[in-house]
Amino acid sequence: MDIKTIGIVGAGQMGNGIAHVMSLAGYDVLLNDVSDDALAAAMDLMSKNMARQVSRGKITEDDKAGALSRITTTQTLTELGQSDLVIEAATEREAVKQAIFEDLVPHLQAHTILTSNTSSISITRLASRTDRPEKFMGFHFMNPVPVMQLVELIRGIATDEPTYNACKSVVDKLGKTAASAEDFPAFIVNRILMPMINEAVYTLYEGVGSVQSIDSSMKLGANHPMGPLELADFIGLDTCLAIMNVLHDGLADTKYRPCPLLTKYVEAGWLGRKTQRGFYDYR
Ligand code: CAA
Repeated sequence: MDIKTIGIVGAGQMGNGIAHVMSLAGYDVLLNDVSDDALAAAMDLMSKNMARQVSRGKITEDDKAGALSRITTTQTLTELGQSDLVIEAATEREAVKQAIFEDLVPHLQAHTILTSNTSSISITRLASRTDRPEKFMGFHFMNPVPVMQLVELIRGIATDEPTYNACKSVVDKLGKTAASAEDFPAFIVNRILMPMINEAVYTLYEGVGSVQSIDSSMKLGANHPMGPLELADFIGLDTCLAIMNVLHDGLADTKYRPCPLLTKYVEAGWLGRKTQRGFYDYR
């Protein structure tokens, strides 16, 4: 199947990164968000991120101009009906994602592939609420999307091979690497990464180390590019907590119990970089 137009639902951290790489790879992009401000901010951020790539010689001014001209923003889901592939990149809450799919499905063409950038929620369950479980799968990018090489591709129980192959060919065209994951809570990356981050929060909670010593230990002692608490702030503490809850509920094992300190930070609205405060203070 030839994919030319890609619809993206959500222009936040992940959605704008996905629009960035898809437009640079030559796809026409329809970028949807409920708020005009969010769409304007996403276009601005993409322009800045691409300008940085131009200044470092990774892409040309023409590449940047071409990519930005291939992106159309829209506040309505109706326009996404022209897409060959839709990637939902809304907030990590199942009810929100399901409501989006319900609104979107009546506008889609029969051949359109529907995917979710969910970092943890069951693909099979999301697919079952649509009219096309065989054309539904997980398409999970890592943050920051323009930099990270991996895309997890997750088949739901009903996903057919043409759908998987079409998504794999998009990943290939992006020059990224696909990892195929089965549909179990949090798939591969977050099944491994989030318990490590949660353990770092427990290490802080129990007073074993300070924020700085936990992060520098993992950076200098395990060669991680970011410490686990810095990375949690980068991902968003609400997202980290949501993923831990999916692991805890889905695998019913106390080893996935979210640290009470993580819960408390989220309840305080200290969500990391996006709210200027998390384990670090960015104000
Ligand atoms: N868009 C485009 N380019 C970007 C970018 C962005 N948003 N952010 C960084 N870059 C580029 C920079 O331009 C720079 O490019 P060059 O190599 O050409 O110079 C390169 O990335 C490195 O950036 P910096 O020099 O500014 O900073 P750095 O060396 O400290 O690296 C980092 C920044 C790439 C984010 C690095 O710290 C890192 O890899 N951190 C770990 C990130 C990670 O683990 N991500 C996965 C999170 S888990 C996830 O996403 C799954 C989930 O579902 C929660």
